[in-house]
Amino acid sequence: MIFVDACFRKPTPYTPIWMMRQAGRYLPEYMEVRRKAGDFLTLCKDPQMAAEVTLQPIEILDVDAAILFSDILVIPMEMGMELRFEKGEGPVFSKPVATLADVEALYDYPEERLGYVYETIRIVRSTLPQEKALIGFSGAPWTLATYMVEGGGSKSYAAIKQMVYADPGTLHALLIKVSEAIKAYLLKQIEAGVNAIQIFDSWASALEREKFFEFSWDYLVDIAAFLKERHPEIPIILFPKGIAGYLDGIEGPFDVFGVDWGTPMELAKKRLGKRYVLQGNMDPARLYDREATKEGVERIIEVMGARPGHIFNLGHGMLPDTPVENAKYLVELVHDLTRR
Ligand code: CP3
Repeated sequence: MIFVDACFRKPTPYTPIWMMRQAGRYLPEYMEVRRKAGDFLTLCKDPQMAAEVTLQPIEILDVDAAILFSDILVIPMEMGMELRFEKGEGPVFSKPVATLADVEALYDYPEERLGYVYETIRIVRSTLPQEKALIGFSGAPWTLATYMVEGGGSKSYAAIKQMVYADPGTLHALLIKVSEAIKAYLLKQIEAGVNAIQIFDSWASALEREKFFEFSWDYLVDIAAFLKERHPEIPIILFPKGIAGYLDGIEGPFDVFGVDWGTPMELAKKRLGKRYVLQGNMDPARLYDREATKEGVERIIEVMGARPGHIFNLGHGMLPDTPVENAKYLVELVHDLTRR
C-alpha cells in the first residue's frame, strides 16, 4: 500500500494524500446517507451506512487512504456519558465529569460496546481496493478528557484547566482510565483490519508547555508504545494541534507526525523531519479557491520535495462548505507534481 509504505519512508510512485474530515457534509453523497440515517450518531452506529460514507472519498476524490467513519466521542459515550449533537452547537454531554466519583462511575471497558466500529472496519476492508489503506483513529486522552469535563466545545477551557491547576489527581485518574480504553479500542481496530492509526489531539494547544507534556504528550507516547510493541507493522500517526512552539520536546515511538496549518512546514522539517515522516499541512480554507489551492500545494512540495518523508494532508479538518471540485483538483495536483 502506497500510504503505508510512505508512513515508513519507503519509496512510493508519488506522495500519497488523504484529508482529515474527508467524509462529511461537503459531499452531497454523504448528506444523502445521513438523511437516510436520521442523525449523525445513528450513522456512526450503523456499520453498512458508516462503511458506505467511509468509501465515498475514495470513489469521489481518489485519495490514497480511507479513514474510518466514526467520531472521537464514541469512547466517552460508551463509557456511559449521554451525548447529543446539537445543530450549530456541536457535541454536548449532558452530565460533564467534575469529581473523582464521576471518574470512578465511568464504565471501564467501552471497547466492548464498540462492536459496530469493528464491523464497519471489516466491511470497509473487504470492499476497499487492495492498494488503498484504511486508517483507524481515536481522540487523544487529553482531547477526550477536555470534552468530558467541559461537557462540549469550549473557548477558554476553564473547567478542565481548573482541574489541571487545582485538582491534577482527578484529571490524571481520568486520563489513565481513558488511555486504557483507547489502547484496548485501537488494538481491536487493528485486529478488525485497519492499516494505520491516527490519534487526534485537537486541543493540545490549550496547554502551556510543561502542562502539555504532563497531561497530553506523555499519554500519547504511552499509547504509541503499547501499540508498537504489539503491532510494529501498523504505522502510528500523532496529530497534536497547535503546538509549533513545543516541537523540540517531541519524541516517542510513533512513525508519522501530523503538522497543523499553523506550524510552518520548514520548522517541522527542521525539528522532526529526520526522525519522523511528516503529514500535512495545507490550510483547509485554501480549498475555497483553486488558485490558492495550487499555491498552497506548490509551497508545501517545494519544502518537502517529491520524495519519501512526506504524506500530503490538510493542516486540520475539511470545512463543511468546501467545493468538491477543488478537493478533486487537490488530489490530482499532488499526484501529478510528485510523480517520480
Ligand atoms: O472523514 C473523517 O475524518 C472521518 C470521520 C471523523 C469525524 N470526526 C466525523 C464527523 C473523524 C476522524 C472525526 C474526529 C473528530 N471528532 C475530532 C478530531 C479532529 C478535529 O476536527 O480536530 C473532533 C474534535 C471531533 C468532535 C466532533 N465531532 C465535533 C466538534 C463535531 C461537530 C462539529 C461539526 O463539524 O459539526 C463532530 C461531528 C462530526 N464528526 C461530523 C462528522 C462528519 C459532522 C456531523 C454531521 O453533521 O453530519
